[in-house]
Amino acid sequence: MAKLREWLDERLQTREIKHALLDRKIPKGVGWLYTLGSVSLFIFTAQIVTGILLAMNYVPSPEHAYLSVKHVTDQIPMGSVMRGIHKWGASAMVIFVTLHMLRVYFMGAYKYPRELTWIVGVLIWLIVLGFGFTGYLLPWDQKGFWATVVGANIAEQAPYLGPWIAKLMRGGDQLGAVTLTRFYAIHVLILPASLGLLVAIHLFMVIRQGISAPPEREPRRPG
Ligand code: HEM
Repeated sequence: MAKLREWLDERLQTREIKHALLDRKIPKGVGWLYTLGSVSLFIFTAQIVTGILLAMNYVPSPEHAYLSVKHVTDQIPMGSVMRGIHKWGASAMVIFVTLHMLRVYFMGAYKYPRELTWIVGVLIWLIVLGFGFTGYLLPWDQKGFWATVVGANIAEQAPYLGPWIAKLMRGGDQLGAVTLTRFYAIHVLILPASLGLLVAIHLFMVIRQGISAPPEREPRRPG
């Protein structure tokens, strides 16, 4: 390993990259609450890996979707584990990203000079919710189907653009094959690409600016 590291460093200056990315001073008082972003990153990685494995066996059509998902659970080695991680990971991702966002909010870490990191974070949060909504339909079971009917009906109530948004979501007036294909494309192409790009920008800004110091109580005035 040491030799390989040496070999790579000689050609690509990998030590410099590691130093720039990982070796940094952190402010006093940084504790467990500051790990929530890294936990989100870990879950995101697990979702990508299990998602790719699921996509290799999933068929996005009303006739085959449910059976292909059942096939993964019942027939494929470790399939139920892979599906379980992806399913529970989806909820964990929403929870941890939201906790991370609350930590940033309550510690005032969104303030100058980190406004852009916060704005990118809000977009990330919306995309994570979008993942949950589109993924829920994919098994094409009763729960997913009716949840999406309700979701599209809610979107339809929005002023002016509502009916147009609902039609765009469903790919017509009713939920059907086009809806499933659309949700699948959004879930495996558009959202992962957007989230990957935004997380990269987010981490670039976090590394560039360094982590903020925890807020301190104002020192008491004497007398
Ligand atoms: C996939 C989702 C996300 C990932 C992987 C991620 C990753 C990270 C990491 C690793 C840090 C370093 C410090 C820490 O962990 O607390 C961080 C900091 C930060 N994040 Fe996120 N984040 C995500 C979502 C969000 C969201 C939803 C928001 C807000 C809406 C946000 C706003 C911020 C801000 C403002 C900082 C700087 C905090 C500071 O300097 O104290 N992030 N993020």
